[in-house]
Amino acid sequence: MDEGTEHSTDRGMSDVDGRVAVVTGGASGIGLGMVRAFAGAGMQVMVADLDTEALAAVADELTAAGADVATAVCDVAELEQVEALASATIDRFGSVNVLCNNAGVGIPTRTNDLKLEDWRWIIDVDLWGPIHGVKVFLPLIEEAGEGHINTTSSMAGLVASGMMGAYNVAKHGVVALMATLERDLRGRRSPVTASVLCPGPINTNISRNSVTYRPTRAKPSADGATSGKAAATIQASLERGMDPDEVGRLVLQAITDGDFWILTHPRWAKSLDRQIEAMNDDRSLTDL
Ligand SMILES: NC(=O)c1ccc[n+]([C@@H]2O[C@H](COP(=O)([O-])OP(=O)(O)OC[C@H]3O[C@@H](n4cnc5c(N)ncnc54)[C@H](O)[C@@H]3O)[C@@H](O)[C@H]2O)c1
Repeated sequence: MDEGTEHSTDRGMSDVDGRVAVVTGGASGIGLGMVRAFAGAGMQVMVADLDTEALAAVADELTAAGADVATAVCDVAELEQVEALASATIDRFGSVNVLCNNAGVGIPTRTNDLKLEDWRWIIDVDLWGPIHGVKVFLPLIEEAGEGHINTTSSMAGLVASGMMGAYNVAKHGVVALMATLERDLRGRRSPVTASVLCPGPINTNISRNSVTYRPTRAKPSADGATSGKAAATIQASLERGMDPDEVGRLVLQAITDGDFWILTHPRWAKSLDRQIEAMNDDRSLTDL
């Protein structure tokens, strides 16, 4: 470590067995990977999602495996629903140690074509969701005396590619939220640590699920064809992505090791180096 730098990595939760975790968007994909990893490590898990059928399937799977899990329907965009999730967690498990703000949606559309309703929906879920999570759960986790808050951002939280305006804005906001939070927690020697997950392509149903949840889906749109085609292309490329269960294991490892950055595809972060280089060299924006 360079002299004078302060980035302690010795603040991880040494033992998670018997601790309580809450995972939003936990009924599918990366969130489900976290739920499986946490339950496998002996944690009690509250799985929150909008999808009631998927929640029931997760409860069946994990209960059959001997895990102690509960489920809650929760729209993270609604503060009152996140408050109700916290109450349900305390009622069921008595305390809470770990929160993973993971629920997320995204629609690929050119900046100018994205409807304001879609902007609001994506930012409400992907940025306000984690803000609600931190606001409601941090005091409870601090009260428990030991814990961690992780939020799922994306490589899109580090480098902004085309077509993903609202998603990029929300995911950059998430990185800023978690970095600020971790520095604030360190500054006041809190027993709680924070981390941010920045995945590259992971094999999940995010494009399909986002098309289903999109508030403007029933309305004809001049850009409908372009956006639908781009969503299908993204969905197809994700099918070659990393297994979400592997991501769940990486998150568990980071929580116990006290790592802040969780990168599934660290080589992709090179585009960040190129961006900074170009910024210093000729002030240009790199192509992606
Ligand atoms: N799949 C990838 O390649 C990838 C890459 C980078 C980041 N991410 C991020 O990972 C997170 C998880 O996505 P995933 O890929 O596992 O997708 P997914 O669609 O498989 O899982 C997301 C879950 O969130 C739920 N959800 C959606 N809106 C919600 C809301 N308002 N409140 C509560 N739950 C809601 C969905 O029902 C779904 O179960 C997201 O934040 C996403 O942006 C995914």
